Amino acid sequence: MQEVINFIVNNQDSYIAELKEFLRIPSISTTPENRGDIKLAAEFVAAKLKNAGMSRVEIMETEGHPLVYGEWLGAPGKPTVLIYGHYDVQPVDPIELWTDPPFEPVVRDGKIYARGATDDKGQIFMHIKSVESFFKVEGSLPLNVKFIIEGEEEIGSHNLEVFISNNTELLKCNAVLISDTALYDEGVPTLTYGLRGLAYMEVEVTGPNRDLHSGTFGGTVGNPINVLAMMIAKLHDKNGRVTIPHFYDEVLKLTKKEIINIKNLKLSEKKYAKELGVAELEGEKGFSTLERIWARPTLDCNGIIGGFTGKGAKTVIPSKASAKISMRLVPNQDPNKIAKLFAKHIKAIAPKSVKVNVTNLHGGLPALTPLEDKATVAAASALEKAFGKKTVFIREGGSIPIVTEFSKKLKAQVVLMGLGLNTENLHSPNEHFNLNHFKLGIISSAYFLKEYSL
Ligand code: BES
Ligand code: MN
Ligand code: MN
Repeated sequence: MQEVINFIVNNQDSYIAELKEFLRIPSISTTPENRGDIKLAAEFVAAKLKNAGMSRVEIMETEGHPLVYGEWLGAPGKPTVLIYGHYDVQPVDPIELWTDPPFEPVVRDGKIYARGATDDKGQIFMHIKSVESFFKVEGSLPLNVKFIIEGEEEIGSHNLEVFISNNTELLKCNAVLISDTALYDEGVPTLTYGLRGLAYMEVEVTGPNRDLHSGTFGGTVGNPINVLAMMIAKLHDKNGRVTIPHFYDEVLKLTKKEIINIKNLKLSEKKYAKELGVAELEGEKGFSTLERIWARPTLDCNGIIGGFTGKGAKTVIPSKASAKISMRLVPNQDPNKIAKLFAKHIKAIAPKSVKVNVTNLHGGLPALTPLEDKATVAAASALEKAFGKKTVFIREGGSIPIVTEFSKKLKAQVVLMGLGLNTENLHSPNEHFNLNHFKLGIISSAYFLKEYSL
């Protein structure tokens, strides 16, 4: 094993050079003009899996972006690990806030900067390199490995969901290993055992049948922007609680053990606020910051548009205004149920002066994984070997909706062994990935394959 680890350490420069190539591909999944880049990224991943030593590698077409599948099943009698990640990335806007162009990776202060560096190209690449290092040093892997790497995670993983349902035999495994979450803090080995779910809605408000002169007509009709803003404001009460009836009905409470764990993690709320540049934190009354992120559902307006937004002034009452609203959900809330409650409530609070249209854009289930799973225990021990410290267990506020699909449809244990940091600007300008964590991630991955094979 030590030889594999030495090999990983000695090959950092070339692994980073290859990661840079990956980061140069603008594989943004949401924009039609990047379709060609999505294809290039899928081909890149397939070539790297092949090169790493996987015996069967295939690009699997879907109705959307292709999936990359790889397998090496040369360890009969040993468990099978399915490694999941995504090669698609978020859009880059606002581009003017990037210090360097988002698809021209640069290394500064031990961090690699580019869109997708931490979410998720850098993280999925760790596993490809750990497998490769095993093959180069030992000629084989300690257990069976499959890869499924998708190009639609950032737009809801719809086609992967369909693919899993239709290919449970192909994807059959004992454990799913995912690195697409964050460490609790720099240098702290971490396993994530819970994720929030999501219901993502769009609300469109229509007032008069056309834009109107705001002097001639102002004060006589419902202004869709005013109405929308008023409705959004009504979605929280003065205690920061969401006002939608029955919103909290299914919320699972934190256990006593979890509350103790949160206390032991000693999050500095001062440092948290300072890092974000805010004078004070805000949220649901009666809960600490970690409790709010881990175990409380939330509602946030993600974007709002209407009327004249260009430079200068134009006196107008717009005909339409719309907003995108995300609700982060916790176990055992159901995204479809919550979406319905939302739509019903929005319509109930809308004045008769406007028409309101609500669309459910997409959603995902929350996740909780049992801490006593064999795969989780092996992962905790692997991280401890790599970092030389005790592993901490956390829940996260973000969502990876496919996690619950894996555990339900493949009946496999899921391990969330993320090596990112929440301060690495994922989905934001100047995204980056700590290269020490990249190295430790490759080492942790290698230890995991070994530990879980025993
Ligand atoms: N990797 C993130 C999710 C994440 C980030 C989990 C940090 C935990 C910590 C993933 O790529 C992501 O952005 N997910 C989306 C899901 C959505 C598009 C369905 C999210 O959380 O907004
Ligand atoms: Mn991700
Ligand atoms: Mn993401």
